[in-house]
Parts: sequence; C-alpha cells; structure tokens
Amino acid sequence: MAYNVGILGATGAVGQEIIRLLHEREFPMKELRLLASARSAGKTQSYGDKTWTIEEATNESFDGMDVCIFSAGGDQSLKFAHEAARRGCVVVDNSSAFRMDPEVPLVVPEINPEAVDAHKGILANPNCSTAISLMGLYPLHKEFGLKSFIASTYQAVSGSGAWGIVELEQQAKAWANGEEMKKDVYPHQIAFNLIPHVDKFLEDGYTKEEMKMLNEGRKIMGLEDLRVTCTCVRVPVFRAHSISISAEFEKPVTVDAAREAIRAFEGTELVDNPEQLEYPMPLDYSEVVPCGVGRIRKDCVFENGLALWVTGDQLWKGAALNAIQIAEVLHQRGKLG
Ligand code: A2P
Repeated sequence: MAYNVGILGATGAVGQEIIRLLHEREFPMKELRLLASARSAGKTQSYGDKTWTIEEATNESFDGMDVCIFSAGGDQSLKFAHEAARRGCVVVDNSSAFRMDPEVPLVVPEINPEAVDAHKGILANPNCSTAISLMGLYPLHKEFGLKSFIASTYQAVSGSGAWGIVELEQQAKAWANGEEMKKDVYPHQIAFNLIPHVDKFLEDGYTKEEMKMLNEGRKIMGLEDLRVTCTCVRVPVFRAHSISISAEFEKPVTVDAAREAIRAFEGTELVDNPEQLEYPMPLDYSEVVPCGVGRIRKDCVFENGLALWVTGDQLWKGAALNAIQIAEVLHQRGKLG
C-alpha cells in the first residue's frame, strides 16, 4: 500500500524536515505534493534527484490525497483541516488549533499509539517542548506513577520558524561587526540573551506555551489530575530544545531504576555520565531521532522526586518526525486510505 501524501507549509522550517524525513524513513508514497501560500506557488523544491513545483493551497488541493501533514500555522489549519478531512484526506496537524479538541487524538506514538484508532479525519501533533519532555517523563511515569512536575524550557530559535534562525544569525553577525541589530521575530535581542517569553501571555501570567505542557501532558498520558508548572524560555540556540524537570511520583524512586526505565524506552537515549562530563546537549541532539535524557538525580524538594534534563530536536521529535511517526502508525494500523 502506498499513499498520495501532501505537506501544507512545505517551504517552512518544519516543512523542509518533513520532505527529508518522509524520504529517509521510506514512508510508502505514490505521490508527494507540496503546498504553501500563493507567494511560493510555481517555485520549485528538490530533494535528492526529485523536484516538485510548489502549489498554492486551496480546498481542491486535498482531493485524491490520502494524508497531508499540516505545518503552516494555526490559521491555515483552521482554514483547511476540516475541508481536507471532508474530502477524504487524513490530516496530521502540527499546529495547536485542534490539540485539545476531544474529537482529535493528540499522539506521541511511543506513548499512546492506540489513540489514532479514534480519529475522525484530523489528528494532532503535540507542542514541541511537551513532546520532548514527555519522552523523558513517560517512562518514569510507567515505573513510579507521575503526580506533578516543574519544568523550565530552553527553546531553540528554529521553533519560531525559518525566520527565527535568520534573526539569530543576523544578530550574531551584526554583533561581531559592531553593527546595529535588527529585531523582527522577537521583541528583544535574542543573540547573547534569554527571553523568558514564548507564545502569548494569558491573564494568569502564564504563556499559552506554558499551559500546553499541562493540558497536552494530561491528554497524552491520560492523567487528568496531573499538576504542572512551567516557564518557557527562548534561548540563542539554533536547533534542539532542552527541558529541566523536577518531577514528583506516587511511588518511591531510585536513580538506578529511573536510568533503567529511560534506557529501555523506545525513542530515548540515556546520556548520564557526570564523571565523564556526558549529558545531552542541543548540538548533539540536532537531526537525531531519539531524545537524550541525563542529569538524573533525587530531587531535593519533592518526596519521591527526580530531577532530570531532556534534549531533543524540536523540528524532528517536536514536529516533523512525530507527525510522520503518527502517519506510520496510521499506516500500520490500517487507518489510512
Ligand atoms: P510560504 O513560504 O509560501 O509563506 P515557517 O513556520 O517556517 O515560517 O513556515 C510557515 C509555512 O506556512 C510556510 O511553508 C508558508 O508558506 C506556509 N504558509 C503561510 N501562510 C500560508 C497560507 N496563507 N497558505 C498556505 N501556506 C501558508
């Protein structure tokens, strides 16, 4: 079985990774179509020896398509997802538009693959920091029973799209040349700085991004009473997000059992040798499939608590890779086409 596949937002930072990973992972494709805005229509895009002409996304684009990965932002998802589903195209959506919709499965394939079975044409890919955090937390939850966690994120600029990368690069060059720095993507200089602000502020002082960790974490792990507090920080790193986590569990914990749980979990690697100065870092986890977990130690605040550090490529596990893994699970479970 091979499918007619589409990518909405194919020219973006995540879209480019989707093209690459669909080919590297040999997703069974009959045809691939690349959709973007009218600005890109007619331009060409190549991968290996293949070249595609970018098409402007319209409702008709989804006719005859079996599955389309959406990565063009929430507004485009809201505009096209239901129409695509109505035309028989299964949508795997990277935006936050449908994640908390009870009709829409929110899936990390290593955690809740069975959730895909209930799809009604749209499935959602979680927030990038949430997906990467859960890759470290879920194996520990299975071992000890997760009650609550406190997270601080260190989010790379590529999480803001292709222009985030350009802004950091330009500001770093301007700094080196003693020139004035331009700011378009971020409200403050990002080069050589930290911005404790990702996504929009809510009335309670949290940002939308910070609440995704709580709400999406509860939905994916099926833990209605999970308590989470989170601070999201944009850092001058090009690629791969990291998250510092203190987690509280129902059962007594040991560092050895925690390490074993991480080692045994598909999709994570244990990198936890402080004596050898080995721990996961963004440069080592860019363009890498598994997420790295390290710095595991007893938490000094919580009873039954563990502190840990997780790093993962947010363009991959936090977006393109996880979305393709969802499509792969749909294929394996006979839920496509
Ligand atoms: P385009 O390049 O034509 O603007 P990023 O998050 O990296 O900035 O990427 C955003 C993606 O969403 C791009 O592929 C962009 O295409 C696409 N996009 C933005 N606006 C629209 C739209 N109105 N219709 C379809 N695709 C869109």
